[in-house]
Amino acid sequence: MSKITIAIDGYSSCGKSTLAKALAQKLNYSYIDTGAMYRAVTYHFIKKGIIQNNNIPDMPRLLEELKHVVVYFQYNSQTRVSETYLNDENVERVIRGMDVAQNVSKISSIKEVREKMVASQREMGKHKGVVMDGRDIGSHVFPNAELKLFMTADTDVRTQRRLNELSSKGEYYTFEEVKQNLEKRDYEDTHRKENPLIKAKDAIVLDNTDLGKEEQLEFVLKLIDDLLLTQDEFKAVTKLH
Ligand code: DC
Repeated sequence: MSKITIAIDGYSSCGKSTLAKALAQKLNYSYIDTGAMYRAVTYHFIKKGIIQNNNIPDMPRLLEELKHVVVYFQYNSQTRVSETYLNDENVERVIRGMDVAQNVSKISSIKEVREKMVASQREMGKHKGVVMDGRDIGSHVFPNAELKLFMTADTDVRTQRRLNELSSKGEYYTFEEVKQNLEKRDYEDTHRKENPLIKAKDAIVLDNTDLGKEEQLEFVLKLIDDLLLTQDEFKAVTKLH
């Protein structure tokens, strides 16, 4: 069966990566978490003291440092997930904290950062058979992806999901603090100049406010079945003529 490219975009904490991971496992595709790439770069700049909370980054230093940043994924057969590496450090866990979350939108709006990440994402996905989630995958990174999803959910539901994720890691914040961070990131991601978060014209909207993980997976697998069937029928018809 021919492999396709699946692009999943949407707002923060919509469950994009949960769905993307489940799809990748089911289809035996690779999963690329592009948000993790921007988080890893942000973590690097925080570690190097180039950005501090809400400060304008030192651009000449940042651009110089960017040349030395290598972000990649390595499959961990024990956890059965691709983990994020920054140069040779496994940063899968440290990039999920609030300090990175508070600075990542700013860093991901820098043109040179995006260019470097997008080039790397296109390289990773060039053979298809990939599920990639982020903000600009269907609109910019893979505009010809066969399946594009745009995920959304009620803000309070997303806040609660993010709050649960943070507290499961021992990071405790109030509902309002987390909600403010989500709303700020959504605003910055949709209003930036470079590849903002937008719904690609041909993307299918998936609002999962009231949907469980299994229901979402089932819905998308059915879309893929229909898509592949149409592709096969198209190939059969073009062969006949
Ligand atoms: O998906 P996430 O919350 O881990 O993403 C972290 C941030 O990275 C998000 O606030 C916006 C940015 N991002 C982006 O600009 N483009 C992408 N393709 C993925 C993420």
